[in-house]
Amino acid sequence: MNQFLKEVLQDLSQTQKSLNSKYFYDGKGDKLFQEIMDCPEYYPTNCEKEIFRDRTTDLAIALKNGFNTFDLIEMGAGDATKSSYLLKELIDTKVDFTYMPIDISSAMIVHLEQSLPEKIEGLKVHGLNGEYFEMLEKANHISFRKKVVLLLGGNIGNETPENAIEFCRKIRASLQEGDLVLVGFDLKKNPRTILAAYNDAAGFTRDFNLNLLHRINNELDGDFDTEQFEHYPTYDPVTGACKSYLVSRIEQEVRISGQSFHFKENEPIYMEISQKYSVEETEEMAKIAGFKSVAHFFDHKKWFVDTVWQCI
Ligand code: AVI
Repeated sequence: MNQFLKEVLQDLSQTQKSLNSKYFYDGKGDKLFQEIMDCPEYYPTNCEKEIFRDRTTDLAIALKNGFNTFDLIEMGAGDATKSSYLLKELIDTKVDFTYMPIDISSAMIVHLEQSLPEKIEGLKVHGLNGEYFEMLEKANHISFRKKVVLLLGGNIGNETPENAIEFCRKIRASLQEGDLVLVGFDLKKNPRTILAAYNDAAGFTRDFNLNLLHRINNELDGDFDTEQFEHYPTYDPVTGACKSYLVSRIEQEVRISGQSFHFKENEPIYMEISQKYSVEETEEMAKIAGFKSVAHFFDHKKWFVDTVWQCI
């Protein structure tokens, strides 16, 4: 049984039904996420882009940390729009480095390996196509230099705080003392601003969530009637948890690969967490996971932080 089917059947069989948001990103999901990033309510991408565009020199100085030779690994590189500012600065300041983007999409890795050296003359790119930690392991086999790891986009927010700590501990375990990690965190802010970012007026975030039901229908022989599920985003300003649910509008049965699931009227499927942090909470996380927090880079509204951690 494929992993996707196994997880979906398992997650929908629990008392609290859920689906894993890592499955949002099929071809349609990638396009919808792009629409979300371009919509006026979704601020995180623009905030982090501002940091990389306007603070490039200081970012590069912090990441060089006095060294002129290292390798730069990016976990979940995507199209590398933000990191390109940094790559250019490192080339311009004569740093000897190889850029190693990790991405689950092989098409994206091929694209980066071809297009980046054309855009940034002299850039060495070694793409790693696969899961984060397997590829980080692979990077350790091909490079024995000091390492700088980038984890941008607030992707860490798509883990619960407990899992995020585990995730950071795993990164720490695959690095050496003195290596650096740059992590992007979306910060706690006015609750309405956050909620609006996950409830855009054009409905892209709703469609992004519902798309996973379509994907299950297409790939796992499901029969979700997506009209009968309502997108319900929430934000808790105390815990910083921004969660989205799809709520069944009616009592209904859904079949997936021959297995039947019963939904009561108003029963929710928990779809995604986008956890927001305070700066203090990110510092606490660094400590617990085996890092020292050494620098913070904010956008001008202080809505997002790219924080630099050193392995201790
Ligand atoms: C990819 N990730 C950081 C996005 C976020 O903000 O949690 C995914 C997303 N979900 C809804 N809108 C955007």
